[in-house]
Amino acid sequence: MFNSDTISRFQQLETPFYYYDINLLKQTLKACYDASSKYNFHVHYAMKANFNPKVLEAVQSFGFGADSVSGNEVKAAIENGFAHDKVVFAGVGKSDKEINYALDTEIFCFNVESVQELTIINELAKAKGKTARVAIRINPNVDAKTHHFITTGLEENKFGVDTWQLPNVVEALNACTNLEFIGIHFHIGSQITDMEVFKNLCEKVNVLDKWFEEQGFDIKVLNVGGGLGVDYYNPDTNSIPDFEAYFKVFADNLTVKAGQEVHFELGRALVAQCATLISRVLYVKNGLKKNFLILDAGMTELIRPMLYQAYHQIDNISKGLDHGPSTMDHGLEMTKYDVVGPICESTDCFRKDVVLPESFRGDLVAIRTAGAYGEVMVSNYNLRDRVQSVYPE
Ligand code: LLP
Repeated sequence: MFNSDTISRFQQLETPFYYYDINLLKQTLKACYDASSKYNFHVHYAMKANFNPKVLEAVQSFGFGADSVSGNEVKAAIENGFAHDKVVFAGVGKSDKEINYALDTEIFCFNVESVQELTIINELAKAKGKTARVAIRINPNVDAKTHHFITTGLEENKFGVDTWQLPNVVEALNACTNLEFIGIHFHIGSQITDMEVFKNLCEKVNVLDKWFEEQGFDIKVLNVGGGLGVDYYNPDTNSIPDFEAYFKVFADNLTVKAGQEVHFELGRALVAQCATLISRVLYVKNGLKKNFLILDAGMTELIRPMLYQAYHQIDNISKGLDHGPSTMDHGLEMTKYDVVGPICESTDCFRKDVVLPESFRGDLVAIRTAGAYGEVMVSNYNLRDRVQSVYPE
């Protein structure tokens, strides 16, 4: 995937860095735009996946809205060109300061996660003489069948209001004079690859929409969240998710009434493939039981493998061959390595037993599909330097 000119350029640069393929990003955004427009679906980009300004610039250029989860994300959305009336603000723990900022910014909607939060937003809006648009995040108790650390729609999760509490929501909404109740919101988890899960979600949404109608509410927005997964195993052949199939599930299974809008909050599916973490081999440590490839990137630059046992393809690109298996055809000697970082933690391991061509100090290693929840989750633990971002010339 990298040509020899690009690899030569990388060799001149200080590592580690995230390399952004802006072209692939735009192709992915276009595929999502085309597939969603077919049904008139609205997409808000979940900026938590990656708020790199170049990424935000590309996303907003397609007319998508922004799904933000902090006051600073709301601010970054506005500063990077998203229209204020296309910004939603979600999250279980919005502070008064953040709510006030979002009210001043006149965002499209707050996705509210509890009855108490409804009353607080109402009070703060009243103090400003404003009306806040709100959607209620409901916990639909749908199993996302993904890693349990990134499941959010089960009753044991902290997110949203459980369905048994909805009568209290109705009571609060009727009492809150400075709220405009516009929608119901769901997000059941991330990296979901089984479309049946989204079908199950649609069934719950239909039932709950009907329930609210029976309580006398007119729901304008059905927000079904994000969660579409990507193929971490085949980054070259399958780099753009099947947005057609994804949106079709909702088009086929959601009951959408006249005047209702369907909103999505996709993060990972839009940006995962567009970035690669490029790192250098610092040391090769051969042991009796294990060989270690010690990189200059670690859990401080990409924490997903350590936090969620997430798989990322790893290639030694200095060999001029960046596809693991194909190197066998070129007669290179293959070795098994535990690919680890420099951080003083045993969990600082990208993957164990990775088969790579024999590798040496100074070789460049690419850790693929790192565009979502990669650069945004960096830390300076061990007082590390901030990882750099690099773009095509
Ligand atoms: N909407 C809400 C309310 C969310 O909580 C999330 C993600 C999204 C939308 C976007 O979901 P996506 O389309 O990206 O799946 N750091 C983890 C993933 C955490 C997801 C958090 N919420 C990882 O690296 O796998």
